[in-house]
Amino acid sequence: MDLALTGRTAIVTGGSRGIGFAIAARLLAEGARVAICGRDTARLDAAAERLRASSGCEAGRAGEAVLAVAADTSVSADRDRLVEAALERFGRVDILVNNAGTHVRATVDDMTDAQLQGQLDDKLFGFLGMIRAVLPGMRARGDGRVVNIIGQATRHPHPDRLPSGIANAAAQAMSKALADALARENIRINTVCPQYIETDILAGVIAKEMADRNLDRASAASGFTRANVLGRLGTAEEVADLVAFLVSDRADHVSGSSVSIDGGYHRHVFG
Ligand SMILES: NC(=O)c1ccc[n+]([C@@H]2O[C@H](COP(=O)([O-])OP(=O)(O)OC[C@H]3O[C@@H](n4cnc5c(N)ncnc54)[C@H](OP(=O)(O)O)[C@@H]3O)[C@@H](O)[C@H]2O)c1
Repeated sequence: MDLALTGRTAIVTGGSRGIGFAIAARLLAEGARVAICGRDTARLDAAAERLRASSGCEAGRAGEAVLAVAADTSVSADRDRLVEAALERFGRVDILVNNAGTHVRATVDDMTDAQLQGQLDDKLFGFLGMIRAVLPGMRARGDGRVVNIIGQATRHPHPDRLPSGIANAAAQAMSKALADALARENIRINTVCPQYIETDILAGVIAKEMADRNLDRASAASGFTRANVLGRLGTAEEVADLVAFLVSDRADHVSGSSVSIDGGYHRHVFG
C-alpha cells in the first residue's frame, strides 16, 4: 500500500528512543522528512545519526531529511523553537506526532501535586501547545495530520497509576474536542493508545515490579504479557506502522478516532 508520504514533513516529539524513534524511522522510510526532539542531547544526536544511517533513507537525502532539536515539549518556549526550526529546515509541517512523555505511578495516598502537574505538562499542555504551534500552517494549507500517542491508562484508569491515568484522560478529551473543531479545515487528529510495548518505559516498570515484589525478570514481565489476550508484548515498530497509516492519505476518512494497540487488552465493546 502506497502511503503517499514522499515529500511530506513531520515532527515526532520524543523521537530519540522507543516508540517515537520507530515512528520517525518509519516515516523516513516512507519518504518523509522528519524532525525529532528530546531532552537528552547526547541521546537525541545519537538517534539522529541512526536515523540518517537507516536503510530506508538513501544517501544524499539523509542529512537534509533528519532534523534533531533538543527541546522539552512541556516548556512553551522549547515547543516554539522546535516548530520554528522545522519550518526553517522543511518550509512546512504536514504531520505532527505528539509522543513525548513518561510514565509515573502513584496512588491517591502518595501522589504529589508535582507528579500530576508534570504529567499534565507533558501530555495535556505539551500536546495541546504543539498542535497550536503547527496549526497556522496547517490551516493555511487546508491539510494537517496529527496523532497523539496517549496510552491505555485513558480507558483503564488504574489506582496505582493515578498521574498517568488522569493526564491521559485529559489528553484524550482534548484530542477529540480539537478533532471535531478542526475537521472541516481538513485537519485530522487521532489518538493511538499503546499498552505494554517493549521500550525503556516498560523496562523501568518491570524493574520496579522485580524490586517491589522480589521477582525475577521473567516472572515480573509475565504479569504484563498475561494481561494481553495475544499473550505477548508489542513492539515500537508495530505502533509505528499504525501511526504511519493514520497520518497518510490512506486514512483521510479517519478523524477523532482512538485506536488501541495493546494485544487485545482493552475489552469494552464500545469505545
Ligand atoms: N511503552 C508503552 O507500553 C506505553 C504505554 C502507554 C503509553 N505510552 C506512551 O508512549 C509514548 C512513548 O513511550 P515510550 O515507551 O517510547 O517511552 P521511552 O522509550 O521512554 O521514550 C520516550 C521519549 O520521549 C522523550 N521525552 C520524554 N519526555 C519528554 C519531554 N518532556 N520533552 C521532550 N521529549 C521527551 C524521551 O527522550 P528524553 O528522555 O531524552 O527527553 C524519549 O525520546 C509516551 O508518551 C508514553 O507515555 C507507552
